[in-house]
Amino acid sequence: MSSLEVISGLFARKGVRVRGERLIKVYRNGPLEVQALRGVTVDFDPGKMYVVMGPSGSGKTTLMNLLGGVDKPTGGLVFHGSKRIDTMSDTELDDHRLDYVGFVFQTINLIPTLTAKDNVELPLLFKKVPKNVRENRVIRLLEAVGLGDKATYKPGELSGGEQQRVAIAVALANDPPILIADEPTAELDYENAKKIIDTLHSLALQHGKTVIVTTHDPRVAVRADRIIRLEDGVTKGEYTPVELEEAYTPTKPKEDTGVYSLANIVRARLARVNEEIEELQRKMKRGEMGIEEAFDRYQDLSKQKRALEDLLASIGG
Ligand SMILES: Nc1ncnc2c1ncn2[C@@H]1O[C@H](COP(=O)(O)OP(=O)(O)O)[C@@H](O)[C@H]1O
Ligand SMILES: [Mg+2]
Repeated sequence: MSSLEVISGLFARKGVRVRGERLIKVYRNGPLEVQALRGVTVDFDPGKMYVVMGPSGSGKTTLMNLLGGVDKPTGGLVFHGSKRIDTMSDTELDDHRLDYVGFVFQTINLIPTLTAKDNVELPLLFKKVPKNVRENRVIRLLEAVGLGDKATYKPGELSGGEQQRVAIAVALANDPPILIADEPTAELDYENAKKIIDTLHSLALQHGKTVIVTTHDPRVAVRADRIIRLEDGVTKGEYTPVELEEAYTPTKPKEDTGVYSLANIVRARLARVNEEIEELQRKMKRGEMGIEEAFDRYQDLSKQKRALEDLLASIGG
C-alpha cells in the first residue's frame, strides 16, 4: 500500500471542496414519507480524510449519494469546487460523476466474470481513454493497491480485502478529485480494514484528494482527520477524534453524569454486544437458531467485541 506514494503521475488531480448546503432528502413510497436528511450543511476540504459517523438509518448513505451526484436532493445545494451539481441534467451529471467522483461501497461491486484488470479498465473504457494509455494505467493502478501480481484473477479468486483494494483501483481509475467510500470496511476483518483506511488516508494526505468515508466502526473513525456526526438526518457536530471525546466529556459532572464520554459510549456498546453474545449462546443451546445463522452472527458479534475492546484500550478506557 505504501507503493501509492511512489507511483508518480497516477494521481495527479488534486481534490476540490465538496459542499452540501441545507440538504433535505425525502423518500416517498406511496403514502409513506421518510425524511432521511433534514437540513444538512457540510464542507469537505481536500487533503483530509473525513469520516461521517452515525447509527444505521441516520442518513449516511443518502448523504453520500447526494454529495457524489448519484441522487438529487429534495432541497438544498451540492457543490464540487465552484461547480453546482444538483442542477445538472442527468446526462451532464453522469459525465461529471465519471470524471470527478470515485465510489467505494460496503458490498464490493466488482463484476464477478471479469478479471481484476478488466474491472479496473471499465471506467477508462467509458471515458474513451485510448487503449495503450488504458493498459498501462490499469497495471499501475493495481500495483498501487498492492495487487500487481493478481491482475488476471477474478473477484472470486481474491480475498475480501483484496477485492476491496481492486474496488479502490476501479474508483481511482479516472484519477477523480473526490473519493467517497460508504462503509468500505464493514465486511472486512481489522487487518484488512486498516489497510483500506490507510490507503484512503494517504490519498487525502499525500495526493490531496477529497476523501469522505462513512462508518459505524469506531476503529475507523479514530483514524480520521475530522469526524462528522450524523443523527436522524441532522449533523450533530464536527470533531477531531480527540475533540469528539472532549466534547462529550462533561465539564460539570454534577449536572451531567458523563454518559456521553466516548469511553462510556464504547463501554455501553460493549455491554450490549456481550449481552447479545450471551443471548445467542442461550438460543443455540435451546436449539432455537440454526447453527449456520448462529455462527455468522457470532462471528459478527465477536468482531464487534474485539473492535470495541481495542478502541477502549486505545483511548485509555
Ligand atoms: N430508497 C429509499 N426509499 C425509502 N426510504 C429510504 C430509501 N433509502 C433510505 N431510506 C430511509 O432513509 C433513512 C436513511 O437511510 P440511509 O441513508 O440508508 O442511512 P444509513 O446509511 O445511515 O444507514 C432510513 O430511514 C432509510 O430507511
Ligand atoms: Mg448506509
